[in-house]
Amino acid sequence: MGVVKKIAVLTSGGDSPGMNAAVRAVTRRALKLGIEVMGSKRGYRGLLDDDLIPLNRGDVSNIIQAGGSILISSRCEEFYTPEGRAEAFKNCKKRNIDALIVIGGNGSMKGAHLLQAETGLKIVGLPGTIDNDLYGTEWTIGFDTAVNTALDAIDKIRDTASAMERTFFIEVMGRHCGNIALHAGVAGGADYVAIPEKTTHIEKLCDLLRHGMQIGKRTNIVVVAEGDDVGGAQALADKVRQCSGIKSWVCKLGHIQRGGSPTARDRFLATLLGMTAVEDLQQGKTGHVLGIWKNAVSRTPLKDVAEKSKPFNEEIYSMLGLQE
Ligand code: F6P
Repeated sequence: MGVVKKIAVLTSGGDSPGMNAAVRAVTRRALKLGIEVMGSKRGYRGLLDDDLIPLNRGDVSNIIQAGGSILISSRCEEFYTPEGRAEAFKNCKKRNIDALIVIGGNGSMKGAHLLQAETGLKIVGLPGTIDNDLYGTEWTIGFDTAVNTALDAIDKIRDTASAMERTFFIEVMGRHCGNIALHAGVAGGADYVAIPEKTTHIEKLCDLLRHGMQIGKRTNIVVVAEGDDVGGAQALADKVRQCSGIKSWVCKLGHIQRGGSPTARDRFLATLLGMTAVEDLQQGKTGHVLGIWKNAVSRTPLKDVAEKSKPFNEEIYSMLGLQE
């Protein structure tokens, strides 16, 4: 079992609510175990530029409730080259960093996998993305907050839609993945959800909206993931109008879904996985991404997370009742 005396932690890719709670948990558990902690600024960029700061108890106080990332997050193109990763490793060695904890999504885990494969640096990943699209975990840090933010907006839009008897197309985030749309759509009672994983049948959607009006529904709510096959909420609303004459209103929720104070669930997840990451490294367990599977902590090899896609959840899709 290799001794870990000093670790670095970073937040990478699109930020997600709960990243700060994870940095806090990592720092607190590490210090408790006598391990020094450095925070890399702007994700992998900080490793490349040797821009790291020491993290002590005071530095992570009063951040559990804060959205964003105190370490700043970024997508670092240079790190996706072997030269970039070699430079990052050189700086880790220079600073005697024995291990790295990466908090981020798909791209960040691909980078972590390559860094570990090429240099042997000990790495544990924490799933931090609002998209909930990482292989090997049922939940990612930030997803629950993003879904609740979208849901709150859907509920509010439903009030005005219902008062004015209108049809709304609401666009949520998810360029390659419809999980936010799916969960917020089910919880928000959406009439239709358009997502990248499924083909949108315009005729069927028009029929559904017409039927809603015929049976006396005061409103129709369509939730659209930004990466759906038609091209987002506005494009879909335009197509529906062309095909059926149905007039609608469009609301794009955008980056408000990435901000805000994390829910209790995200703080809990961040704290559990952050602490476990440090304990794993101390026990010599490395090369995996932590997550939650069937209500227990899961460990999935970095290679699998980097190379495999999370299967689409047909069961949740079926809850929308679109096939009926
Ligand atoms: O972090 C994930 C995500 O929010 C996706 O849902 C979205 O498609 C993308 O990032 C947006 O990225 P950016 O903020 O760089 O435009």
